[in-house]
Amino acid sequence: MNFEFYNPTRLVFGAGKLSQLGEITAQYGKKALIVTGGGSVKKNGVFDRAVTSLKTAGIDYAECSGVEPNPRITSVARGAETARAEKCDVIIAIGGGSTMDASKVIAAAVLYDGNPWNLIAHGQENWVIPTQALPVITVPTLAATGSEMNCGAVISNDETKVKSFVQAECLYPKVAIVDPELTTTVPKDQTAYGVCDIITHVTEGYFTGIDGTPIQDRWAEGIIINAIEYGRKAVADGQDIEARTQVQWASIVALNGWVQAGVNMMPPVHMIEHALSAHHNITHGAGLAIINPAYMRFIARTRPERLAQFATRIFGILTAGKDEMTVAMEGIDAYEAFLKSIGCPTRLSEVGIDDELFEQYAEDAVLVVRDAEGNLPGRPALSKDDIVAVLKSAL
Ligand code: NZQ
Ligand code: ZN
Repeated sequence: MNFEFYNPTRLVFGAGKLSQLGEITAQYGKKALIVTGGGSVKKNGVFDRAVTSLKTAGIDYAECSGVEPNPRITSVARGAETARAEKCDVIIAIGGGSTMDASKVIAAAVLYDGNPWNLIAHGQENWVIPTQALPVITVPTLAATGSEMNCGAVISNDETKVKSFVQAECLYPKVAIVDPELTTTVPKDQTAYGVCDIITHVTEGYFTGIDGTPIQDRWAEGIIINAIEYGRKAVADGQDIEARTQVQWASIVALNGWVQAGVNMMPPVHMIEHALSAHHNITHGAGLAIINPAYMRFIARTRPERLAQFATRIFGILTAGKDEMTVAMEGIDAYEAFLKSIGCPTRLSEVGIDDELFEQYAEDAVLVVRDAEGNLPGRPALSKDDIVAVLKSAL
């Protein structure tokens, strides 16, 4: 497939790099809006270290704290209001994907007069793709989303229970300061959910992409294999800086566009999960751990060869004397066993979700992304009935 690749984010990677925040920010403005989540960065001292670095470089700051997991559009509106009132000229995100995503949309909302939800309303009424935004600097404290070096953001609307996304060139962070030491305080469960998110970013393209992309295949497999190996270690020992570093790097390369270049990736598993986390506020990576194996079993019916490739190359499943479907299913079982071994849920019942709203989740998934027939794009595309079938098998 012909393609263009563009990612202008400057990546500053390595232990101790947080100390460069001030000098880097000085290149983009004089007053920053620092966006943070529910308090982890204040408890572990990262916020104070960031402020010290800014002060040393003569940068003033205002704050937008309390961005919630599965960030809401109300937090975005609040942040944009503060940035305007305080005349901030650069946005600094210090936190997980939720904080980084909110920061990107705040940066666009500051320069947009309409309802900020319009900036997020992908495929829906009044959808507007932002074309300008204040400069954003990301400082991730959790390895998961890859938001630190991509132009996407996912925001929820608490009133309508729709979780939607934006992708726009103006939202690429100017700089990502990625210091894996900042992730050593992430608890075991969030570490495991992050590993699942990283792997799923890669499997989406691996399962929905076009044929004939051998370099992208091997690249994707390398990321998955390393996320499994070092993810296990990071969950077992949060202070293992080598493991934290490899997982953080995997998070970046899984969704900064390299693996997706030219494959025509579709994100069906993400779209189904977003409907779940919008209604139940579950952690994104935990939702993916439940949906992805169910989705893989569903598509194995039509593409056993692709799932068999996953099984042999990722988990070394032996093929002698077996048909492709058997190999495929053994690979999916091995993946599910890995997810369980690091503490991820793999059934909806484990996170308290029953079948009551299955039709609604299917509606919500195709509200945000759909093809000309109204199906969720992928290989194969999923009808609403197919989505319900995937969900039923995950009960
Ligand atoms: O809020 P605080 O107190 O900071 O605590 C957070 C939160 O409770 C905690 N945490 C983060 N860093 C920590 C830490 N705790 C201790 N020590 C640290 N160093 O972890 C919890 C989860 O944080 P959150 O930011 O919600 O997690 P994650 O990074 O998984 O982000 C999830 C959000 O990103 C979206 C998801 O849908 C979800 O809304 N996504 C964004 C993407 C993108 N922009 O490209 C792609 C993804 O597929 C995903 O959809
Ligand atoms: Zn994800």
